[in-house]
Amino acid sequence: MKIHTMLVGLLVAFTAAPALGSEPVPYPQDYREWYHVKSMVISPGHPLAQPFAGLHHIYANGAAREGLKSGRFPTGAVLVFDLLEAVQAEHAIEEGKRKLIGVMVKDPQRYEATGGWGFEGFGEGQANLRLTKDGGRSCFQCHRQARDRDYVFSRLRD
Ligand code: HEC
Repeated sequence: MKIHTMLVGLLVAFTAAPALGSEPVPYPQDYREWYHVKSMVISPGHPLAQPFAGLHHIYANGAAREGLKSGRFPTGAVLVFDLLEAVQAEHAIEEGKRKLIGVMVKDPQRYEATGGWGFEGFGEGQANLRLTKDGGRSCFQCHRQARDRDYVFSRLRD
């Protein structure tokens, strides 16, 4: 009985081990129905322009909105950075084609190596065009600057 329990434990450990820290970030279905946190236009010459030039909106699911209020994000919190081309037209800036979405998913067990957050980019917002090649480490490197806010830069406003 005891040995059996150990074997089952081992089996679970082996099947879980290779995925640790590298679990694919799920595509955030229906994120456009979530809470809109803020928007920003990044122009050429800005430090983030490569690759984030354009007009972006940031969305939070319910758990992420709680985290934005308290500064502590629960497992299951998801934030989306929705980047569109910024099109200059008639003295206005309009939304153009979608360039990419950036996603952060809070799950400290799955994404221990990157601050408890899974990071992924999806080209053109397409679920099958995954952009990160390093398990999100380069995203995390920059997001470390916001470590006192659980690696999230955005803040709630009225
Ligand atoms: C060079 C720095 C830098 C890199 C690299 C970077 N980000 Fe960000 N990210 C930011 C900044 C700054 C903001 C806040 C933008 C704003 O205020 O509108 C942000 C915002 C976000 C947000 C909204 C939550 C928040 O922190 O405000 C998500 C989601 C996000 N980034 C995902 C990613 C993903 C995924 C990657 C890698 C593919 C990535 N980021 C790489 C700087 C970076």
